[in-house]
Amino acid sequence: MDLSNARAIVTGGASGLGAATAELFRQRGAQVTVLDRDEAGQAAANAIGAHFARTDVTDEASVAAAIALAVERMGGIDICVNCAGVATAGKTLGREGPLALDSFRRVIEINLIGSFNVLRLAAAEMAKNGREENGVIVNTASVAAFDGQAGQAAYAASKAAIAGMNLPIARDLARNNIRICAIAPGIFGTPMLRGLPQEVQDSLAAEVTNPKRLGDPAEYARLAAFIVENGYMNGETIRIDGALRMR
Ligand SMILES: NC(=O)c1ccc[n+]([C@@H]2O[C@H](COP(=O)([O-])OP(=O)(O)OC[C@H]3O[C@@H](n4cnc5c(N)ncnc54)[C@H](O)[C@@H]3O)[C@@H](O)[C@H]2O)c1
Repeated sequence: MDLSNARAIVTGGASGLGAATAELFRQRGAQVTVLDRDEAGQAAANAIGAHFARTDVTDEASVAAAIALAVERMGGIDICVNCAGVATAGKTLGREGPLALDSFRRVIEINLIGSFNVLRLAAAEMAKNGREENGVIVNTASVAAFDGQAGQAAYAASKAAIAGMNLPIARDLARNNIRICAIAPGIFGTPMLRGLPQEVQDSLAAEVTNPKRLGDPAEYARLAAFIVENGYMNGETIRIDGALRMR
């Protein structure tokens, strides 16, 4: 799919990987609507000439309204990139006792169910395009889907499910001419990570095989663009991690 004529929605586009993706897609000529629960998404969207819809991806009505707004503003949807997510940590059995079930549920709700909620409604719009290639969906997993660390039971489960539903969704949407891939990032320098003390960031960077640094959100964005532009990419989860394997 040619990005220069495309109409994209990007969830989590107020910050980090989503913001970098929205920016690159705009640079390549696509129309973009940023969906984020954070009002900061408005300024982020304004800065790159994108539209903004304040959205909670876990809420059916909120996402339906955001999709309707995106269709009204852009005339349809060709691309859906899901970057909205949270990385709440908590040990299964911590010093305070068992992990609160609500905390586990919340991570699954946002990272997994939120992504599915957005992509199912976006797919319904893409299916109306009536072309040989109606749409492309890019979900965000994590290397934690494969080598999650202590305290990441909920996060790793949510991301493993993103990887797990990739192929069945690719099969479901084949008759609608819609492709889907997931990106599994290693450690990227986004607000999610930049909030950590510098020595923690340095020790994380030292874990990366090569290059020994955090990933640049623009590198994630270029992979998202590659998936959109390469019509034979489908049903795959792609690691982008400098060969990092979490201990
Ligand atoms: N940064 C990394 O190293 C890294 C590594 C692997 C995977 N990821 C994944 O990439 C995605 C983006 O991460 P990031 O580092 O850019 O994080 P970030 O915190 O910078 O951005 C996440 C965005 O999602 C939004 N969001 C959260 N919950 C939402 C909801 N319910 N509805 C709508 N928007 C919501 C936030 O407001 C925020 O703007 C996440 O799914 C994260 O798990 C990040």
